[in-house]
Amino acid sequence: MWGLDPQAIFLNHGSYGATPKTVLQAQSAWRERLEAQPVQFMGEVLPRALRAAAAELAHCVGAEPENLVFVENATSGVNAVLRSLQFQPGDEIAYTNQGYGAVRQAIQFVSAQSGSLPVEAQIPFPITEPEQVVAAFEAILTPQTRLAVLDHITSPTALIYPLPELISLCRERGIPVLVDGAHAPGTLPLALETLGADWYTGNAHKWLFAPKGCAFLWVAPHQQAHTHPTVISHGFGQGFLAEFDWVGTRDPSAWLAISAALEFIQGLGIDPIRQHNHTLMMQARQLLLERFGGIPPAPENMLGFMATLPLPSFWQQWRLDLPLPIRARQLHDDLWHRHRIEVPIIPFAEQLWVRISAQLYNHLAEYEQLALALERRPDGFAV
Ligand SMILES: Cc1ncc(COP(=O)(O)O)c(C=O)c1O
Repeated sequence: MWGLDPQAIFLNHGSYGATPKTVLQAQSAWRERLEAQPVQFMGEVLPRALRAAAAELAHCVGAEPENLVFVENATSGVNAVLRSLQFQPGDEIAYTNQGYGAVRQAIQFVSAQSGSLPVEAQIPFPITEPEQVVAAFEAILTPQTRLAVLDHITSPTALIYPLPELISLCRERGIPVLVDGAHAPGTLPLALETLGADWYTGNAHKWLFAPKGCAFLWVAPHQQAHTHPTVISHGFGQGFLAEFDWVGTRDPSAWLAISAALEFIQGLGIDPIRQHNHTLMMQARQLLLERFGGIPPAPENMLGFMATLPLPSFWQQWRLDLPLPIRARQLHDDLWHRHRIEVPIIPFAEQLWVRISAQLYNHLAEYEQLALALERRPDGFAV
């Protein structure tokens, strides 16, 4: 069912997803159709097929098809929005310390270009309740805040942010909201038309099982006229869909295969998939917490299919002569090369953390292998 290496323990669905073979076969079939007559395909087949695929994806995320366009990834979706907006010197862009690195870079870029100010909210982690996110974010909003960039599910800490509460906070102050929902489609039920955000970008290639490069940008109707793709092409000035649906020659097969990905999900049922992944993640987290010691760094209601945990204390003391990101990289590489375990080691808030993912192909015994590997001190001795 999966192309994953059977010799490896793959505990990182969160980074790029893993695509079922049936979905990849559907993608190949679209590529073959394109290659049989590229001109006819791009000109006649694609415009309709792309809109049909967008309609299916829109239905899945509670959106109207005319408000949703495909992009290659969440990073592109965020860039399209940030680089469409006109900021003035002194304007503030609010985001959080747990935002994704590439998104924070894009915020820095537009801030430097416009003279606006990136303002970072310090969301605590460990955390005990979602209200702490709301309070920390509220604390940085000012009359100069022109945009809020919020995650739905964070990358380093795997937290589900209380998005409805955060959005109401911003709306009360007239602050538009861009949501980075990279991990949310598939993990959480979505109702984008009623969420109250201005822009929402999400990946289908992570938890919706689509091929790599399948993501979307949803834009509220009142923001569409001034939201443009990062690459301007033939459709400029002809409306939101015309601008985004063609940005030059590219391979659209990942988007067209969304139908196969949704069929895969329907075959198993979205509720049983969610139940499986969340339950396995909680069991795995418990197992690791018991082995490493320590208290859960986040409440269950802030977690989906991933969890971040601090590494045992001897890892925190290991190679203190090296910068934290290098230590994280070395430990990650060591887990892969010595144990054939793929799992992200995260340098965050001056500590080393491990982020586990749970997906249909994972089993509890694999997290046991991870615990055994991490219980070995760097000098090779078991503790
Ligand atoms: C919160 C968050 N935003 C954005 C991204 C970027 O996704 P992509 O590489 O598909 O653009 C990720 C990737 O893991 C992420 O975790």
